[in-house]
Amino acid sequence: MQGNTFGRMFRVTTCGESYGIGEGSGLAVIVDGVPPGMVLTDEMIQKDMDKRRPGQGKLDSPRKETDQVHIFAGVGQDGVTTGAPVGMIVYNVDTQKVHIDQYYEYKDLIRPGHAEYTFFLKYGEAADWCGAGRASGRETVGRVAAGALAKLILAREKVEVIAYSVECMGIQAREMTFDEAKKNYRKNEINCPDLEAADEMIKKVMEIKEEGDTAGGVIKLIIHNIPAGLGEPVFDKFSAMLSHAIMSIGAVKGIELGAGFKCGKMKGSDFNDHPYLEGGKVKFRTNNSGGVLGGITNGEDIEVRVAIKPTPTVSVEQPSIDMNKMKEEKLSPITRRDPTLLGRIYAVIEAMAAITTVDALFMDRGWEGMSKLDKKWTDLKRK
Ligand SMILES: Cc1cc2nc3c(=O)[nH]c(=O)nc-3n(C[C@H](O)[C@H](O)[C@H](O)COP(=O)(O)O)c2cc1C
Repeated sequence: MQGNTFGRMFRVTTCGESYGIGEGSGLAVIVDGVPPGMVLTDEMIQKDMDKRRPGQGKLDSPRKETDQVHIFAGVGQDGVTTGAPVGMIVYNVDTQKVHIDQYYEYKDLIRPGHAEYTFFLKYGEAADWCGAGRASGRETVGRVAAGALAKLILAREKVEVIAYSVECMGIQAREMTFDEAKKNYRKNEINCPDLEAADEMIKKVMEIKEEGDTAGGVIKLIIHNIPAGLGEPVFDKFSAMLSHAIMSIGAVKGIELGAGFKCGKMKGSDFNDHPYLEGGKVKFRTNNSGGVLGGITNGEDIEVRVAIKPTPTVSVEQPSIDMNKMKEEKLSPITRRDPTLLGRIYAVIEAMAAITTVDALFMDRGWEGMSKLDKKWTDLKRK
């Protein structure tokens, strides 16, 4: 299985499964490209781990994972990063036999909406049948740890990343500014800063949970105060890097930047963001472009909406196929799951956005250095 590393200059590699080898199994991440001299402790990373952790409320999977992160490499005796790759690990602590037995019982059955079928096609009998292996939501533990580290680097540049729920089962939060959203960030289980809409959303999810079903939704991501100039045309446009990062998260079914799919109803004169001058700086009156022009950040906030599908595991009976017997079956799995992913997946979206921004920042700084070298070259040639 390839594709476990993301990033060019700030490189994040993850490994680990939901259950893996059972006793002693865990999830690890190696982050290469961390600047030396940063104070880094387990507690600084843990704050973000706790946003993603299951078992905290009625909208979460009841799996009781503590997700305690331990930094095991890249930090010296003084508690600062040395410039070496940073290694972090989280052990699985709630891998109960009763659930392993359930996964074994269903191991040959396609779970509609989940990844068993395609993993079986690609990896055959060796595919991890317990807890979905690398297709489990637990795979994102390492991403969140690396994202927390990326956020510490971004804080030095005064860049902030937040994501929150804006829609669930057709209930929509009202539009709000970054400051308004930040004020009510993580004030409820579904992390919707419109508190009235949040109550409605939670009520709806609980009704759906009673039916043994799950709910989808939309998350908004804002990268605030991002510098202009990030993104490398043509294949590493900032928008392309960010889409890659976010679409790599399980259960993400769509991403739109700025006005996104509203483009289908817009004229050019409505869409175009009009520039104006403020204190000698170029600003834009609207942000339909979502903060990116020609693949390069324009200094406005990055504004993105992400479509999250309903959690695939449901208790409602659904058609399935036994892949060993090649026989049509019915399936109503009883394993643990979140009735909606909205209350946890935002932490993973923030993490991937932070990792992407640091990577783009480092690529841009590299380009700055290279352009200075170029100038030396042209000066030499003119002499
Ligand atoms: C944080 C997180 C938690 C998840 N929890 C569950 C879960 O409890 N049950 C489940 O069926 N899917 C869960 N998923 C979704 C599956 O991982 C995902 O739908 C599956 O891998 C199939 O991939 P796809 O939806 O991208 O096609 C979770 C995903 C994330 C990111």
